[in-house]
Amino acid sequence: MQIITSIDEMRRFSRAVRAQGRTLALVPTMGALHEGHLSLAGRATDECDVAAVSIFVNPAQFTPGEDYARYPRNLECDLDLLVPRQVDAAFAPDAAQIYPPGFDTFVEPGRLAEKLEGAARPGHFRGVATVVVKLLNIVQPDVVCFGQKDFQQAVIVRHLIRDLNLDVRMAVCPVVREPDGLARSSRNAYLDAEDRPAARVLHQSLERARELAEAGEIDARLIVQEMRKTLGREPGVATDYATIVDATDLEPVERVERGSVALVAARAEAVRLIDNLILGPAGATDEDRLELVFGPALKRL
Ligand code: PAF
Repeated sequence: MQIITSIDEMRRFSRAVRAQGRTLALVPTMGALHEGHLSLAGRATDECDVAAVSIFVNPAQFTPGEDYARYPRNLECDLDLLVPRQVDAAFAPDAAQIYPPGFDTFVEPGRLAEKLEGAARPGHFRGVATVVVKLLNIVQPDVVCFGQKDFQQAVIVRHLIRDLNLDVRMAVCPVVREPDGLARSSRNAYLDAEDRPAARVLHQSLERARELAEAGEIDARLIVQEMRKTLGREPGVATDYATIVDATDLEPVERVERGSVALVAARAEAVRLIDNLILGPAGATDEDRLELVFGPALKRL
C-alpha cells in the first residue's frame, strides 16, 4: 500500500491509474478506522481496480466546542488495518495542505444541511461538503464510497454530486453494527463502561419502528412515539431527535412508506450518537433497503 501525504503525489498516483486504463475508488474517512470503514474499503476494491482511502480529520466540519482536538487519531494503527484489505493507497494530508493560509472558499450545501444534524451542528455540512469536493478534485476517483450510518451526509453528498455535475458515482454501504446492535462509529471510543450498554437503546428504538412498520402501521406520529418510549427506557440517554423522514427532502412524513427513513440522535452522557434505518418490506435485506433510497447498487465499472 502506498502512503501518500502530499496533494501532488496523490494527483500523480491518480493520473497513473487512469493512464493504465484502470478505475479508482475513494473512501473518504477521518481515520480512527473500524469495521464500518473497512466494509467501505472492501466495497471500493469490489467496485474498482484500485482503491484509495483518505484519512483526514477535517477541522472545517467541527463546530466550536466540539471534539476536533481530542478526535481519536492513530495513523499507524489505521494503516495496519488497511493493508490486509487490499487498499492500494492511503492519502493522509495535513491540515495546512488542505486549508493553506488564506483559504476562503467553501461549498454551501443548502436546505438539506439545515435540518437534523445541521440544526444541531450549524456549519457542519458546509465543512463536510467543502472537504468532499476538495478530496474529489484531488483524487479524481470514478467511485466514492459513503456509509449509510451518516445518512444525512450521504443524501447531501448525492445532491452535491448532482448539483455540481461532479464526474463520480457514489456507492452507499449498509450500517455496520456491534453484536448488540450499536452502530459502529469512531466516537463509540468515548463511551465509558457505564454508558456503553445504554447506547444500545438507539438501535432498539429503530428496531421498534421497523417492527411496527412491517406489521402494517403507517402513522408516523405513532411510530415515533414508540421510538421515543424505547429511548426513554434509558435515563442516561437524552434524545435529541427521533423522527421519520422522506429520504429525498429529509422532511418528516405523516404516512410511512417504503423508503421512509427513521433517524435518531441522542446523547449517552456526553457522547452524541446517531443512527438510522430505512423502512422497507418485511424480509428486505440492508441492500434492498438502500436501493429504495439510493437506487440500484453500482455494478463494477
Ligand atoms: O464521514 C466522515 O468521516 C467525514 O464526514 C468525511 C466524509 C470523511 C468528511 O470529512
